[in-house]
Amino acid sequence: MTTEFSKRRQRLLKQMGPNSIAILPTATEKVRNRDVLYPFRPDSDFYYLTGFSEPEAVMVLLREKSKSRFILFCRQRDRALEIWNGLRYGPEGAITHFDADEAYDIEALHHKLGEWMQGIERVFYSLGQDHEFDQLLTQQAETLRSQSRNGVNEPSQFISLAHIIHHMRLVKSGAEIKLMQHAANIASEAHIQAMQHCKAGMNEYEINAELTHCFMKHGSRSPAYPSIVAGGKNACILHYTENNATLNNGDLLLIDAGAEYDNYASDITRTFPVNGRFSEEQRALYDLVLSAQLAAIKKVQPGLGYNAYHDTAVRVLTKGLIKLGLLKGDYKQLIKDGAYKEFYMHRTGHWLGMDVHDVGPYKQGQHWLKLRPGMVLTVEPGLYIAPDCKTVAKRWRGIGIRIEDDVVVTRTGNKVLSAAAPKHPDNIEAIMQAA
Ligand code: GLY
Ligand code: MN
Ligand code: MN
Repeated sequence: MTTEFSKRRQRLLKQMGPNSIAILPTATEKVRNRDVLYPFRPDSDFYYLTGFSEPEAVMVLLREKSKSRFILFCRQRDRALEIWNGLRYGPEGAITHFDADEAYDIEALHHKLGEWMQGIERVFYSLGQDHEFDQLLTQQAETLRSQSRNGVNEPSQFISLAHIIHHMRLVKSGAEIKLMQHAANIASEAHIQAMQHCKAGMNEYEINAELTHCFMKHGSRSPAYPSIVAGGKNACILHYTENNATLNNGDLLLIDAGAEYDNYASDITRTFPVNGRFSEEQRALYDLVLSAQLAAIKKVQPGLGYNAYHDTAVRVLTKGLIKLGLLKGDYKQLIKDGAYKEFYMHRTGHWLGMDVHDVGPYKQGQHWLKLRPGMVLTVEPGLYIAPDCKTVAKRWRGIGIRIEDDVVVTRTGNKVLSAAAPKHPDNIEAIMQAA
């Protein structure tokens, strides 16, 4: 992947123009409790441009008049600390393994930045993500300003680095799609395992354990986000993560779980009956969500606006809800009033990539972005009938359903990366009964 990372840096450098510097720190380590840290995960933008996974690292791209330099600051090698906490690449390793033109001990950052920023016109940096680092740069700018009578010019522009990188990340390369396909394959397998293991009387956390087991067994170091394992009415809580209730015979189980692989996310939701057979009401609502999802996926095509697939899902759901008697009134008026929002209160998807809700704009000016090959998004309509919903008959209440797939826009249409996770109700029932 080295060339992939260097290609990205070249593209960024091109956009920066001459006499400029880009400064990008990775994520900071976070305390979980006392002296225990959360597992470290590099900042997505930083990893996208470097492939470097250690904490306490900063990327600098310097574009002078005729040449440019890729510089990595990282932790110095340290025999004693490496015995306790694991190996480090050190600046030497940053050069040999990560193609850095130069690399330095992270402790030298302040001094080196001061040196390089003299005479630079444009500074590319993402303000507001790391307050300590923001202060360091503010200090640098102040120092330069105070030296103006000595002939030192301060930079004339500070420009958002995130803005450029996030536009780049919006369209995935072939190598990125491969990683995302792998992340989706792992998660699809985990959803199948969950269907096969599920039995009435189990606890949600037992199913959660199956998912995590399957993720990690296949090389995923972590879920891409906390898994949602929501039995019965818990599915009506959109971000339910308690995952500690008993699974009841006759209820549905909604699982929203995606593996992260090499810092790329999958994001898949499947909903199935705890006992392996849909009830009549569950099946009616499930069929409706599935038909909305299939219609929406058809609208994931190059040239169509980002909003087209959401609008389609809303139309199919509204029509279906009228047919089932859950919404009453004129179709056009109900659409206009957003009546579906009582049962469908989120949008039909989002960009997907290194971050589960991935970066990149959704609109350009007033217009929704047009889909282009290489963009990846989720298609995830759902219906959630609140347990205390008074406007519908009792038999519908407490049912929550979502079906979510990961879809890449191709030159001719789209490809569903998560197609291996069964979603047709007959297939789901067959898999569960065969288990
Ligand atoms: N898992 C979060 C989402 O579906 O957007
Ligand atoms: Mn999801
Ligand atoms: Mn999602």
